[in-house]
Amino acid sequence: MSHADDHAGTRRDFLYYATAAAGVVVGGAAVWPLVNQMNPSADVQALASIDVDVSGLEPGTQLTVKWLGKPVFIRRRTPEEIADARGVDVSDLPDPNAQNANLEAGVPAVDENRALAAFEATGSEAVDGEWLVMIGVCTHLGCVPLGDAGDFGGWFCPCHGSHYDTAGRVRRGPAPTNLPVPLAEFTNVSTIRLG
Ligand code: FES
Repeated sequence: MSHADDHAGTRRDFLYYATAAAGVVVGGAAVWPLVNQMNPSADVQALASIDVDVSGLEPGTQLTVKWLGKPVFIRRRTPEEIADARGVDVSDLPDPNAQNANLEAGVPAVDENRALAAFEATGSEAVDGEWLVMIGVCTHLGCVPLGDAGDFGGWFCPCHGSHYDTAGRVRRGPAPTNLPVPLAEFTNVSTIRLG
């Protein structure tokens, strides 16, 4: 690695991304643990659904899992991240559609329509809206955005400069739509099922 000390953060991010794009499986910023949750003996493409253990995630961290050949970001958001996302007027969003496969098509992109519902049949202490699950593929041309990055505190795609907020909604740059939310649900207090 040849990160010169005088490079600005954006430059480092770009170099970092370039490394990742070369095929090295790595996490994003230091706070991202990256875990491949796939059963290595399984036929990846054949798995319509997978269960992901999220018990180890603290607020402000995320997992990236591979599902159907794509990265999926599972983030446990901090109260500040949730508040930031909920303080945005949908009319200010480039894409006002929630892009959430769990909801009816076309519902507005308010944060409540982006976050995953917490596990219901428990007195869990889950904070409302703390879980966010998204396909981690930039909706512009398919790069994998970096977490904890960008001008809106969410994700940043360094390929052409798309910024996503803490709800994964595009806020600036060429990406045409929000990061899609896949079919997902809690099956128990610590397990999220994708698909
Ligand atoms: S692929 Fe992300 S901005 Fe172009």
